[in-house]
Amino acid sequence: MDSNTVRQKHAEFLFPCVANYYQEPLVIIGGHGSQVRDADGREYLDFFGGIVTLGLGYAHPEVVKRVQDQVARLTHTSTLYQTEEIVRVAEKLAAITPGKLKKSFFTTSGTEADETAILLAKIYTGSQEIVVLRHGYAGRSLQAIAITGHSPWRLIPSQVAGIKHGHPAYCYRCPFGLEYPSCEVKCAQDLDELIRTETNGKPAAFMAEPIQGVGGFITPPKEYFEIAVGIIRKYGGVFICDEVQTGFGRTGDHWCGIEHWGVEPEIMTFAKSVANGFPVGATIATDEVADAFTGLSLSTFGGNPISMAATEATIDVMQREDAPRRAAERGAQLRAHLESFKEKYPFIGDVRGMGLMQAIELVEDRESKTPAAGKAGQLMEATKRRGLLIGKGGLYGNVMRIAPSMLISAADIDEGIRLLDAALAEID
Ligand SMILES: Cc1ncc(COP(=O)(O)O)c(C=O)c1O
Repeated sequence: MDSNTVRQKHAEFLFPCVANYYQEPLVIIGGHGSQVRDADGREYLDFFGGIVTLGLGYAHPEVVKRVQDQVARLTHTSTLYQTEEIVRVAEKLAAITPGKLKKSFFTTSGTEADETAILLAKIYTGSQEIVVLRHGYAGRSLQAIAITGHSPWRLIPSQVAGIKHGHPAYCYRCPFGLEYPSCEVKCAQDLDELIRTETNGKPAAFMAEPIQGVGGFITPPKEYFEIAVGIIRKYGGVFICDEVQTGFGRTGDHWCGIEHWGVEPEIMTFAKSVANGFPVGATIATDEVADAFTGLSLSTFGGNPISMAATEATIDVMQREDAPRRAAERGAQLRAHLESFKEKYPFIGDVRGMGLMQAIELVEDRESKTPAAGKAGQLMEATKRRGLLIGKGGLYGNVMRIAPSMLISAADIDEGIRLLDAALAEID
């Protein structure tokens, strides 16, 4: 099928809410490492890693081989039966996650992982209210939409009660108009008043992303989580750490983003790069919290043997390649280039992120900080024309997100930066 036919059939047979990047959406037919090719034979360097998901790049040979072997051996059992594959992955997940996190529940997406986490927190605490953050994202179930702090993703008026939105640590656009560090991390401190005024004082959980992904890689100051989690625990709630984007080495040096700040969650969720592109969601909790979940629950495809083979292969390759360290090294290289672009292009208002999760926020001018969504759209097209894929996000659609494979070479980082520089110059 040529790309035009695919685009026509997409418009005819898929829900229009299945949003695509680019005026002329890209039809991808294959990929290897950090390179993808489209149905018209064009090659692209992928600086967005299949939306922060292909931590080891496209078609990693070991992941492919182990999935192929698994497909030939056993594809499905359902969670009514036990498999060696699911317990091996659960044991490995307990080993690589921080603190006392130990018991897992597997599903097939980040949405389900977050749903499972919230259900568990409510069962464990006996409380119902959940504290989350503006600019956060949790997925596409009714509850996840209600949690998501972005009007464009909140398709219907929230029908789920008991969700309270605190202010994020969005230092570039501080909700209190303050400056770090003299602000004393007011955004975190404010959660105390939020709990006392907008809940019954007994929240079940605080759920947050270490770096807000869809929000535009909003990166909090180092004290944020210690303060915020201290407050939720004071009122009897647990901390659910959503590592869907930040997990599995992405932020550099550690497996999980939250480890940079030494805070140990009671519950953590994963999806995206956990299986290098296979549909896996995971919710892991401490023994004590997980053991409260005694009712019946089932996920037909959760922990599917093929997904588990992909997850185990991903963990093994990441350990062998020391992917978190590579993310830190390549991330530092990428960050240095982005900082230099900030010197060069006055419409770059902010550079932020950690490891191989880096973003630039585009503004009309640095004084007004007016979001430059139009420029972001132009930059998407200009990078695509040059054979570079990047991501876009943020509430105002003006944040360019970069999150390539953690196995990307230093040469490919430099090449992507060369293409990005040319595209930035074009829209300047
Ligand atoms: C932080 C976070 N949580 C949850 C989700 C939902 O994951 P999924 O799209 O796999 O349902 C996403 C998706 O982007 C996410 O970024």
